[in-house]
Amino acid sequence: MNTSKDSYEIAVIPGDGIGKEVMKATIKVLDELDINFNYTYGDAGDECLKNNGTALPDETLDIIRKSDACLFGAAGETAADVIVKIRQEMKMFANLRPVKTYPNTNSLFENIDFIIVRENTEGMYIADEESFTDDGAIAKRIITKNAEKRIIDYAFKYAMQNNKSKVTAVHKANVLKKTDGLFKEIFYDVAKDYPEIATEDFYVDATAMYLITQPESFEVIVTTNLFGDILSDEGAGLVGGLGLIPSANIGEDNALFEPVHGSAPDIAGQNKANPIAMILSAVMMLRYLGENNAADKIDESILKVLTDANALTGDLGGSSTTTELANEIIKNL
Ligand code: NAI
Ligand code: MG
Repeated sequence: MNTSKDSYEIAVIPGDGIGKEVMKATIKVLDELDINFNYTYGDAGDECLKNNGTALPDETLDIIRKSDACLFGAAGETAADVIVKIRQEMKMFANLRPVKTYPNTNSLFENIDFIIVRENTEGMYIADEESFTDDGAIAKRIITKNAEKRIIDYAFKYAMQNNKSKVTAVHKANVLKKTDGLFKEIFYDVAKDYPEIATEDFYVDATAMYLITQPESFEVIVTTNLFGDILSDEGAGLVGGLGLIPSANIGEDNALFEPVHGSAPDIAGQNKANPIAMILSAVMMLRYLGENNAADKIDESILKVLTDANALTGDLGGSSTTTELANEIIKNL
């Protein structure tokens, strides 16, 4: 994580569909802050493929590589060739998904506020599969000390920096004794460096239930790739809706911030998309850059706008446009 500085190089990749619309709204909000951002726009996605013959030009990767941080909107059908490739190329090992209750949303509970810290580079998603007979196949799941130590340490650091008091490790060490046994062992090893932070560990199946029965009890969850993917969608379902869920992909040298949603072709080009997921992704970027005051300001404004409920987009039961909701957030800054 960086410390604040005079100006930042930001790579901006709006992508396809509502990606463009929510990005425009987000840049408008960032422009209201007393921080210097130099934006460099990059092409990626379906339209880029049509125009340039590739969904992810080298030039775009270069822009991200040289940036202090990257804002990404959404890609369409080429998402796997774009966002997954960027994460791999830039070795963005940590995938962060905050799950938080906001007023006037379809959240199932009132006081949810936790973050899932998911390992992004190994585990089940190395996707090393082969068929070994006519009626069977095998998938390898890789757990290495270095990668798991890195993500667990990241989770504890995140807890320290964000006033969280507890980190929960999620695994299946009773069955996967070697891989998840190692994960659990590393967790308690790393925890020794953070005596201020409370620890607990649960099996992934039990966690899936606790997220429904007592989601308020979680603060930071750290887990391996596949479990993190599944639990973070459960988290999104808990707080009601893609229009509100931001995420971050963090590596040693690069970081990318994106809403969890896609290009939403059903509402694209109509100024209907909820820009909050993208704006909250920018808030995560501000915290990553060490600009916590600015991040707090936007957070508070979003909370106020959702509480007042007078500029909600269709997904939140209102009839306001992307632009109107963004302007309301700016008005309340
Ligand atoms: P999607 O997230 O684009 O849309 C799912 C549903 O949620 C749609 O009804 C959409 O209108 C609604 N929705 C999503 N974001 C919204 C917002 N900000 N405000 C209001 N409503 C919102 O997922 P879907 O339909 O599965 O995929 C559409 C395209 O997006 C596909 O081509 C897919 O490959 C791509 N995609 C890209 C991702 C990325 O770039 N990271 C992630 C997920 C999908
Ligand atoms: Mg997923």
